[in-house]
Amino acid sequence: MEDERPIVVMLGPPGAGKGTQAELLSKKLGLDHVATGDLLREELAQNTPLGQLAKSYMERGELVPDDVVAQMVAGRLSGDRGAVLDGFPRNLNQAHILDRLLSERGLKVTLAVEFVIAEEVLVRRLSARYLCSECQASYNMVTNPPKAQGICDRCGGSLYQRVDDQPDTVRKRLQVYREQTEPVVAYYRERGLLRTVDADRPIEAVSETLSAIVADPA
Ligand code: AP5
Repeated sequence: MEDERPIVVMLGPPGAGKGTQAELLSKKLGLDHVATGDLLREELAQNTPLGQLAKSYMERGELVPDDVVAQMVAGRLSGDRGAVLDGFPRNLNQAHILDRLLSERGLKVTLAVEFVIAEEVLVRRLSARYLCSECQASYNMVTNPPKAQGICDRCGGSLYQRVDDQPDTVRKRLQVYREQTEPVVAYYRERGLLRTVDADRPIEAVSETLSAIVADPA
């Protein structure tokens, strides 16, 4: 039997703030945070066979094959509590796979949130993004800098820039988003599950709007 444990899908172009908000929301509500980009980067860092397979797709800004990502997500969807899905599904096939994985666990998508923001803001945000090499905390040299340059506030790890945040690769990722992920936005809209958020506001303001939507998705 299906229940109403929240399963929130975050949709939006690269740099829209999905990861930042998914982390805040999952902590606030005690939900699992399933971030396929983070999971893939962990595989890459550990040089696993999956990481080796994913590397060239990610560096080109293309999607990693669906079956690889689906297997990774299946292992993370415990079904014990709700989840925030960040970066999955990214095409219609993945949306169907997600429906199946959830229904096997007595769950379903309860809300999809689209982060709306202009492309020029995204390119600026991504060129200023730095990540911690140890704990993956995300910073922005313009809007959310660390206290000490190059050092993670949280764990003291060193900060690095993602290879796919180079302007050419960002443009490719935006194209992939338009062609493959925007149909997923339409998929959830047609099912009455979609809400949109203006993502070009301060992090706290977006977070407040998101919490209000999750509390009252109707
Ligand atoms: P992934 O890591 O998922 O990248 P993405 O979707 O392109 O999203 P980003 O992480 O770039 O941005 P975000 O929206 O999370 O923004 P963030 O919060 O970091 O995927 C990377 C690659 O992995 C893909 O290209 C693909 O190859 C592969 N992959 C992943 N999932 C896959 C799947 N399902 N299928 C196949 N392949 C897959 O914020 C960005 C910056 O802005 C930060 O610096 C942040 O501090 C700052 N910021 C955030 N919010 C604000 C705000 N409100 N105001 C000002 N600054 C802000």
